[in-house]
Amino acid sequence: MSIQMHRKRRIEGTTLVIFGASGDLTSRKILPAIASLWDQNQLPEEFSVVGVARSPLGNEGFRKLVMESASSLESISSNIENFHYLQGDYSSISTYQALAKLLDSVEQTRQTGKSRLFYLATIPSLFGPISSLLGESGLSQSGASTFTRIIIEKPFGNDTESARKLNSDMHRSFSEEQIYRIDHYLGKETVQNLLALRFSNAVFEPIWNRNFVNNVQITVAEQIGVGHRGGFYDSAGALKDIVQNHMLQVLSLVLMEAPATMIADSIQNEKVKVLSSVEIPSIQEVATRTVRGQYVTGVINSEEVRGYREERDVSRVSKTETYVAMRLAVDNWRWAGVPIFIRTGKRMPKRETQVVMEFNRAPHLPFAGSSARQLGPNRLILRIQPEEGIKLVFGAKVPGQDYNIRSVAMDFSYADAFREISWDAYERLILDALLGDRTLFLRSDEVIKAWEIVEPVQRAFADPDFPLYLYAAGTYGPKESNKLLQATGHYWHNS
Ligand code: NDP
Ligand code: BG6
Repeated sequence: MSIQMHRKRRIEGTTLVIFGASGDLTSRKILPAIASLWDQNQLPEEFSVVGVARSPLGNEGFRKLVMESASSLESISSNIENFHYLQGDYSSISTYQALAKLLDSVEQTRQTGKSRLFYLATIPSLFGPISSLLGESGLSQSGASTFTRIIIEKPFGNDTESARKLNSDMHRSFSEEQIYRIDHYLGKETVQNLLALRFSNAVFEPIWNRNFVNNVQITVAEQIGVGHRGGFYDSAGALKDIVQNHMLQVLSLVLMEAPATMIADSIQNEKVKVLSSVEIPSIQEVATRTVRGQYVTGVINSEEVRGYREERDVSRVSKTETYVAMRLAVDNWRWAGVPIFIRTGKRMPKRETQVVMEFNRAPHLPFAGSSARQLGPNRLILRIQPEEGIKLVFGAKVPGQDYNIRSVAMDFSYADAFREISWDAYERLILDALLGDRTLFLRSDEVIKAWEIVEPVQRAFADPDFPLYLYAAGTYGPKESNKLLQATGHYWHNS
């Protein structure tokens, strides 16, 4: 199925089963997305939701949660009877037997077919056991004219080996076509626009390579800290939380070759090819190519914020990274020799996800005067969020008698150019899974390749002597990350 084709298809009556229905992701992302899809008439009348979790919520408690999560109550309140709750232990077969009965009864009452979409939104260690029990209880099978699919949240495994094991565990119950591995960055309009920019415009392709691009910088900066997710985050860190998934996805879309079509396999093949070309550093090389950081107390929006080790559920002696910067290399015909810098951090000055393509400088500047010599390089800045847009930075003459040159920008803003409202990433991805469109989901080999890239870094970070640099909240990370770029004669472009 392709990005262009799927909108024409109609969603059949389906039951969405959410495991981890009492959790943070369910109430902050999944339920609001469902409510919004209902509001926009994207869901059929015969659509139901079953929440599964251990907490004793009952139908009433779950429906209350649904109402509290929805931004608009209009459609959701008239459909609230379609939400059901099953309390149960995720590891007990009796939960799945009870679920099978509940699904039969819901489907009979609603007169729907037996199409089911399972959404695993629990803690990650339960992904394998839940899919195995869905298989054991016969719930993973698709019918002749109905589907059974499963969405699985990130992180998909903890390293290459556990991701491989999770793949093989899941494949015992579900075929690859039934599995939808989510990375919500792919649901963002502006991430999808990376493909539109590159492959619908002839002007960029000739310069999108080592002959013109000096370096590429990908930044995922967050202003927020770890909030109430300290327990989870302290065992994950920025490398697993952001780099392995969101950043490597953005990287692959920016650097991959043109797919033949926008069909899922076509795009995924190209992503796998470019991820396979990312040079995997040895553990020794990690030290010179990576900076690990953690925030301490600092100031954000004129307010003092606490340091990472003071956050709730975080160890007071934690060495978990809240910041990572890396220099990567992509060994292929297009990108050989072009440094690819990536960085991500919590508690940075502002929320900002962007890609900067820095182009080579003009070979000779015929203008006298220091302003020309100090001219910054041409840059194409792809702003993913917030203030989504594209900016081209170039030199222009300052009005006046002298030939002074200054950097100026042509700025395209998504919000100004389009009246259409952008869909939330979860709305888009849940709808795609209902429609059976896997284009914006991850294939098993992509996930494994991404783990292979970060694995040496994981192992290096596990060494207690690997440097952990502190940075004040509200800054762009430790100063060592500037040195990482200075070592090759580069510098970060902050907005
Ligand atoms: P939560 O910590 O809120 O856990 C989800 C549910 O799992 C809980 O409500 C709880 O339900 C159950 N649970 C928690 N701990 C245990 C345990 N030790 N044993 C058994 N069940 C447990 O997780 P999130 O909602 O934050 O995340 C869910 C998934 O989504 C994770 O894989 C996460 O990585 C991913 N994700 C989350 C994001 C977010 O912003 N929250 C963003 C992107 C991905 P109960 O006790 O009622 O059974
Ligand atoms: C999640 C991470 O996957 O992405 C969070 O677990 C992070 O730690 C979030 O805050 C960032 O997503 P977004 O859409 O706000 O950039």
